[in-house]
Amino acid sequence: MTAIRFEKNSNNIVTLTMDMPGQSANTMNADFRSAFSAAIERIVNEKDSIKGVILSSAKKTFFAGGDLRELVAVTPDRAEEFFTMLETTISNPMRTLETLGIPVVAAINGAALGGGWELALCCHGRVAVNDDRIQLGLPEVTLGLLPGGGGTTRLPRYLGIERALPLLLEGKKVSPRKAQQLGLIHQLVASQEDLQAAAEAWITANPMPKQPWDVKGYKIPGGSPSSPKVAQMLAIAPAMLKAKTKGCYPAPEAILSAVVEGTQVDFDTALRIERRYFTELACGRVSKNMIGTFWFQLNDIKAGKSRPADFPTNKVSKVGVLGAGMMGSGIAYACATRGIDVVLKDVSQEAAAKGKQYSEQLLGKKQSRGRISADEAKLTLDRITPTFEQAALQACDLIIEAVFEDSRLKAKVTQETEPLLCEQGYFASNTSTIPITQLAEASANAEKFVGLHFFSPVDKMPLVEIIRGRQTSDETLAKAFDFVLQINKTPIVVNDSRGFFTSRVFGTYVNEGIAMLAEGVPAAAIENAAVLAGMPVGPLAVSDEVSLTLMQHIRNQSKKDVESQGQTWQAHPAEAIIDRMVDEYARPGKAKGAGFYDYPNKGRKHLWTGLTEHFTQSAKTESVDLEEIKERLLFIQTIETIRCLEEDVLLSVRDANIGSIFGLGFAPWSGGAVQYANQYGLRQFTERAQQLSERHGKRFAPPSLLVEKAEQNESFE
Ligand code: NAI
Repeated sequence: MTAIRFEKNSNNIVTLTMDMPGQSANTMNADFRSAFSAAIERIVNEKDSIKGVILSSAKKTFFAGGDLRELVAVTPDRAEEFFTMLETTISNPMRTLETLGIPVVAAINGAALGGGWELALCCHGRVAVNDDRIQLGLPEVTLGLLPGGGGTTRLPRYLGIERALPLLLEGKKVSPRKAQQLGLIHQLVASQEDLQAAAEAWITANPMPKQPWDVKGYKIPGGSPSSPKVAQMLAIAPAMLKAKTKGCYPAPEAILSAVVEGTQVDFDTALRIERRYFTELACGRVSKNMIGTFWFQLNDIKAGKSRPADFPTNKVSKVGVLGAGMMGSGIAYACATRGIDVVLKDVSQEAAAKGKQYSEQLLGKKQSRGRISADEAKLTLDRITPTFEQAALQACDLIIEAVFEDSRLKAKVTQETEPLLCEQGYFASNTSTIPITQLAEASANAEKFVGLHFFSPVDKMPLVEIIRGRQTSDETLAKAFDFVLQINKTPIVVNDSRGFFTSRVFGTYVNEGIAMLAEGVPAAAIENAAVLAGMPVGPLAVSDEVSLTLMQHIRNQSKKDVESQGQTWQAHPAEAIIDRMVDEYARPGKAKGAGFYDYPNKGRKHLWTGLTEHFTQSAKTESVDLEEIKERLLFIQTIETIRCLEEDVLLSVRDANIGSIFGLGFAPWSGGAVQYANQYGLRQFTERAQQLSERHGKRFAPPSLLVEKAEQNESFE
């Protein structure tokens, strides 16, 4: 069996059916490439008897894109070989196909992404099934790559530089309808059955097509980079891009360069420029980090690798949510939008109704943007029943408590509502800090008690940290996992520990930033270094969001617990600063309009000038080493993450990487908190951690798991 079937019909139209054996989707792997080259060669040989060519797919999708397994394995020492492979097996055959003088049409039956959309773009005509679920686009940038199959060369020549750039830089996917509006699809058909006839008709109507750029006198729509309007836009484009990437992401920069350089030269030179940038990205570290985590590890999570096997998939249809505050109302929304009935319970009807209003607002916004219909919005909202009455929770498949962070209150609501669950039902707590095993003591069925730690705001944050208490059963864990997928979120599974995984690591990040203040590092340097390292928000800004009072409260509680177990509390240098901010200067954070930042009624927040006076000046200010600040902020999180692996709080590297990025915003370019160490090189990472430990404190001491792996020249897999 071959990856491409060659069939010529009585009208002399050749259909190339892409049908990669043994795979559910077509990808641009070695088998495909050799089949593609062979097919093109045959077309060239039989050219005189061929009226046209249709490129179609026998899979559910048209084409999935590049072969990521192959891409992730390319190393810098094989760069030349890779470049030549691209040229001879992708660029050249595609170019031959589009310049043969025979009409070529892509018959698009499903998603055409990356290399698949690039294949379609090298065809003269494109007909597609009119289905909004079909995605067309070049998402390579999201994996640290660029479209190296002619994408950065053809798209700007179809659309113009200004319209092509956002699609390339953001990796935006569009529906066939939208693509038709852009002029990229020539005809839409109602169903897959109509594709072949429409493609054949297109061939008959366009017997001698040429690509626009192969027609004499062709000019790039909207102007080349040297035309005044485009030149003006391009003068600021790199700065605007850098403001977004902070220099952490080479792919968007390479895309911009490939487009600008490529549109000033002839087509074949442009393809060569594109291949060079693509080769550089494919060999680089960032694409490997991103492909490894956002593709392979995330897919493993979605496929259930962290879920106990041997239990049938569980679907819930009725969920009870206790507490209609910030978290409860968000959880209710997440469930209702996935078709689940929700009983949203608070202490009064009014409070519960307020929680439902939150969904009303979010749905209203979606509706006004045309993303859902009025009927859909109403249907979703009607699924939420606000109430203050216990009885409404009768026969819930799952009850999630999101009441105040108070163990006694949580115990009370657990005991009151648990008996109302259906027989197979289970109970979850959304606590952010209290150990699940401790909360489960209030439950009559500790094996059916689990932690479901959502992140705020729930409608935007993709992660749910599932916490397994000491007695939580495998079955309950599997159910919790299925529920998280059911509401379209990403589950990671962790064992119980104070602060679980995410809150623990988050704590190290903010504390490290605050500790630097105590050392005399200027606040602006701390905040900027964090963002330059790839974190979404600086540690001082995020502390203000959380509130310093809450941080103080959590620390006091942890200290009490540690001391009650007869252990000594290791004070962190950040603690004194937090205490002074709250107790001396009454600056507990954003909610009160004053924290590390000032929050004027009008205008943007800015760092509180008192920080220099009270902290920086009084400390021994050393010269600022931006690189060291960046590394401290990332290292401390990675070290704590590795400790979580060592202590079996985390059970897999994939959960660590995905959890750190989706839950904490850990620098996505690095592929996550553990991958950051891998790509740094574990030996080098260990040495650097040792150095930081000597300079800044034992908290940087490399955990033994790390030292062992480094000594054995291994990495975390
Ligand atoms: P919140 O203060 O906004 O809401 C708590 C709600 O619980 C209030 O509406 C209150 O009236 C209600 N409530 C109190 N007693 C109740 C009872 N007996 N029955 C029903 N409802 C009752 O609090 P928030 O921020 O929503 O937090 C809730 C839980 O989620 C806490 O355990 C918190 O630690 C956790 N959490 C909070 C996150 C956050 O970013 N705020 C993130 C992750 C977890």
